[in-house]
Amino acid sequence: MGEFIKILGFAGSLRKESYNRSILRTAVTLAPQGARLDTFDLDDIPPFNQDHERDPPHAVRAFKAAVKASDAILIVTPEYNYSVPGVLKNAIDWASRPYGDNAWDGKTVGVMGASVGTLGTARAQYHLRQMFVFLNMYPLNQPEVMISHAEDKFDHEGHLKDQTTTQKIRELLEALTTWTKSLQKAQKR
Ligand code: FNR
Repeated sequence: MGEFIKILGFAGSLRKESYNRSILRTAVTLAPQGARLDTFDLDDIPPFNQDHERDPPHAVRAFKAAVKASDAILIVTPEYNYSVPGVLKNAIDWASRPYGDNAWDGKTVGVMGASVGTLGTARAQYHLRQMFVFLNMYPLNQPEVMISHAEDKFDHEGHLKDQTTTQKIRELLEALTTWTKSLQKAQKR
């Protein structure tokens, strides 16, 4: 059905027991009616090399194809050194190239993140929002989901246990779905 929103989500951490990967798995179960959240692992994406941007490695081709096939993007990321983790920036760069074939162009995007710090990835998220300008993406402004002191919000098996955070994630997915539908409707006019 035309109204069905396909969201592609990925995490900016490759760590097996990553809080952000765990949040992404939780988000899959919280997608609202009328939307589906599929995920992509960035593990196999090699470092960007502009020499290969016109004939990228298989994992990059698969990633770009998944981005292009989606209506909306969900990025779940830690903050590294007050900014965006290299693996995430690297994947964003690959899918934006070559010039004229930017897979992100016109996609709506929601962002969330968890860190052990007090600001819950705020600085990384605002750096991402700066990238969205050049990528020509349409970020969802609110709700902002910045999960601080992550170590207190997960159980021993690494599952999110904090109900307030779970509700925020649900709200973000609902808002991203509504935002994407309304932009699609406006573009059809
Ligand atoms: C961090 N961490 C971190 N936390 C934060 O709040 N602000 C920061 O700038 C940084 N910087 C930073 C750099 C690097 C290289 C690492 C490895 C870690 C800590 C970070 O919040 C913590 O490791 C999280 O657990 C990372 O997220 P995942 O891997 O659990 O998803």
